[in-house]
Amino acid sequence: MSSPFTSTYPATRLRRTRQADWSRRLVRELSLSVDDLVQPMFVSDSTDGREAIANLPGQNRVDIERLVEDAQAANELGIPAIALFPHIRESDKSEDGAEASNREGLVQRAVRAVKAQVPDIAVITDVALDPYATHGHDGILEGDLIKNDETVDELVAAALSLADAGADVIAPSDMMDGRVGAIRQAFESAGHHDMLILSYAAKYASGFYGPYRDAIGTKAALRGDKRTYQMDPLRREEALHEVGQDLQEGADMVMVKPGLPYLDIIRDIREAYAVPTLAYQVSGEYAMIRAAGERGMIDEKRVILESLMSFKRAGCAAVFTYFAADVAKWLKDGDV
Ligand code: PBG
Repeated sequence: MSSPFTSTYPATRLRRTRQADWSRRLVRELSLSVDDLVQPMFVSDSTDGREAIANLPGQNRVDIERLVEDAQAANELGIPAIALFPHIRESDKSEDGAEASNREGLVQRAVRAVKAQVPDIAVITDVALDPYATHGHDGILEGDLIKNDETVDELVAAALSLADAGADVIAPSDMMDGRVGAIRQAFESAGHHDMLILSYAAKYASGFYGPYRDAIGTKAALRGDKRTYQMDPLRREEALHEVGQDLQEGADMVMVKPGLPYLDIIRDIREAYAVPTLAYQVSGEYAMIRAAGERGMIDEKRVILESLMSFKRAGCAAVFTYFAADVAKWLKDGDV
């Protein structure tokens, strides 16, 4: 990326290409398009219709019927994929989160409904136990520790149930060791040779997930934190180790999460591996921009677009963002 020459002023005046709209557009290296967007959606079986999520202004928990409508709207906007997250009834939760692999479970039913009625949009399903566990952790607890290998067995069962329901992409977000390989092997044995795995490979233990835990109803439940499995924010090189391992185990795409505070990690991955790399602009990032926008402290639309351009600049193939539908509308209307 370094220039082979050193330019000097005034022969070079870098402002020349910035002087007009046409020249700025002409020399741009990157663009933002609807193809870069994944819309996360929250589905619930204790909601009739739509229920606003207080800490994610503008986002709703919806029943399956509304989910299909929202998926249809996203498809009409040209958004390539949605990502489903469930809000599970308390009575369906347990210590071991076994509901995750229930073939008649909420997400399994939601996937079947969306794929039956909106076949063209891809459905990405998260694989982790937290929405289903009474303690809000991503795996099976023993004392204060998560049991890795027992958890992986459950994640495999959940992944198979979602693949059988018709999901297009399975996205393990739990950060257990070895889960990508175990899921890949199970898919190969079951004949799911073309099933895509998007691994949350570099997922950091983050305060930015706060509003999400509200959205899926695990905030009050969560005992302790997730630092024994999610990554330490002060580690950089370990992300490359995580990604390398997940690729060897059979991941097709990898994810960095959260997004904006971890752009350096996205760039590191892109320089080290030829693999589609996605980012998740998580709930806390969304909430901060919305809150400041609502108070008139920032030009919200401009900040949203700039944040997404930053992901492209860092090297992302696509971004999970709660702004996806808004941005897709602006792009469609030529309003960016
Ligand atoms: C957990 C999971 C989390 C998110 C997606 N999957 C939160 C966590 O690890 O506690 C966060 C998404 C967001 O904040 O928008 N499996």
